[in-house]
Formats: sequence, structure tokens, C-alpha cells
Amino acid sequence: MINSDDATDYESVLLDRRGQAEAFDAIGDRYDEAFPHKEGQLAAGQWLIGSLESGARVLDLGCGTGVPTSRQLADAGLRVVGVDLSARMVELAGQYVPEATFEQADIADLRPGGPRDLGRFDGVAAFFSLLMLPRAEIPLALRTIRQLLLPGGRFVLSMVEADVDDFAIPFLGNTIRVSGYLREDLHKVIEAAGFEIVDESSYTYAPAVADVPPEEQVFLCCRRSD
Ligand SMILES: C[S@@+](CC[C@H](N)C(=O)[O-])C[C@H]1O[C@@H](n2cnc3c(N)ncnc32)[C@H](O)[C@@H]1O
Repeated sequence: MINSDDATDYESVLLDRRGQAEAFDAIGDRYDEAFPHKEGQLAAGQWLIGSLESGARVLDLGCGTGVPTSRQLADAGLRVVGVDLSARMVELAGQYVPEATFEQADIADLRPGGPRDLGRFDGVAAFFSLLMLPRAEIPLALRTIRQLLLPGGRFVLSMVEADVDDFAIPFLGNTIRVSGYLREDLHKVIEAAGFEIVDESSYTYAPAVADVPPEEQVFLCCRRSD
């Protein structure tokens, strides 16, 4: 359920990133090996490409290794900026997509008035990165994304459908904390942040390794409501 006490600004939440960057530093390339099937992500990326002009500026938020999304967006002639909390992921992304720009930063750093101003974007992709935040932060991150987008800007995201908040799970030999929503609640959170959901797809996904359980992945294609 959505908690009506969800924080309305970053001042009232304690940012707790313990272990999150370290886990992804350690996971590195194994993330792509564990999740080899990316049909839903590629289709959502294609929607983003199709809805933008060539040369448009896009942000890959929580870009991981840059594969497949930064790679796909750069190949389509978009100007890609990727951001990730993990130094190792940023390093790998720079190797795999050298024509894009990557930065180690926290999603929270990008908020208006925050420590990292990346300018405005025509599109934002956040595939499986908002689920790394506690629920209290997800509406704040969505609001930041909306503010980073130019009017009419496009936003694609994916989440795992699950009613959990900052829940510790074993993941590729590490422990990460994840959050999720049931489908209707996810829609409400996205729409309340100022987005219109234009398209949606979902996939039941069994990762290619034993210590990550099957999951229902939800992909949403959105437009900034003006
Ligand atoms: C599950 S991976 C997804 C990577 C990539 N988007 C993809 O779909 O292949 C989540 C990524 O989000 C990054 N991440 C986690 N918390 C973050 C935060 N607060 N700010 C920026 N990136 C974060 C992790 O380091 C990791 O690379």
C-alpha cells in the first residue's frame, strides 16, 4: 500500500545507502549475465527512441554497465548521460559506451538545488534503479525526474511488482535492499508525480542464476504531464 506519510521532501528522509553501491561494485558484469533477456527493456528503450528527435538528450538513471540501455540509446543517435551510484558500474559503462558521458552520482544528488546539476533532458530511462530506493524516496526521485525533463519529455521505467519496502534480499552473492509496489499502487505513485502512463508491458522473468528468484517485471512508458 502507498503510505500517506510518504515524505514530501528530501529534508525529512534519512538517506541510507549502506551496502548498495558496494554490492553493485562487487556484482559488476555478473549483473548482465544474471539477466540476459532484455526484451522488455529494449522495447521500452525503443519507445523512448521513437518518441524523441535524433540528437535528443537523455539520462540513463542507475545505468549499471550501460548495457543494454545506454548502448541502445547512443546507437540511435541520442546524446546519453548515464548516472550510477556504483563506481565500478560507471567504469564499465564508460568502456561499453564510450560515446556517452557517465558520472558516479546518487539519484538524490540530482534534485533541484542538490549537489549535482546535470541540466535538462528530453528523456529519462530508469530501468530497475528506482526499486533500489526506500519507498519514502521514490516519489521524491520521480519528482526530480519530472523536474529534469523538458516540457513534454518522455520517461521510461521498470520496476519489479512486489509489495515491499526497503526489503533486504540476497542478490548474486551480496545483499541489496529493494522496494516495490503492486501494479495499481505503482500507477498511482507515477501519476501523482506528474506523469501520464502511455504504454505498459510486463514479463515474468526467471533470472539465469539460482540465487535470484523469478520476478514480475513491469515496464512503463510515460509522458511528462504539463
Ligand atoms: C538493478 S541495477 C539496473 C542497472 C541498469 N539500469 C539495467 O537495467 O541494466 C540498479 C542500478 O542502480 C544503481 N543504483 C542503486 N541505487 C542508486 C542511487 N541511489 N543512485 C544512483 N544509482 C543507484 C546500482 O548501482 C545499479 O547499477
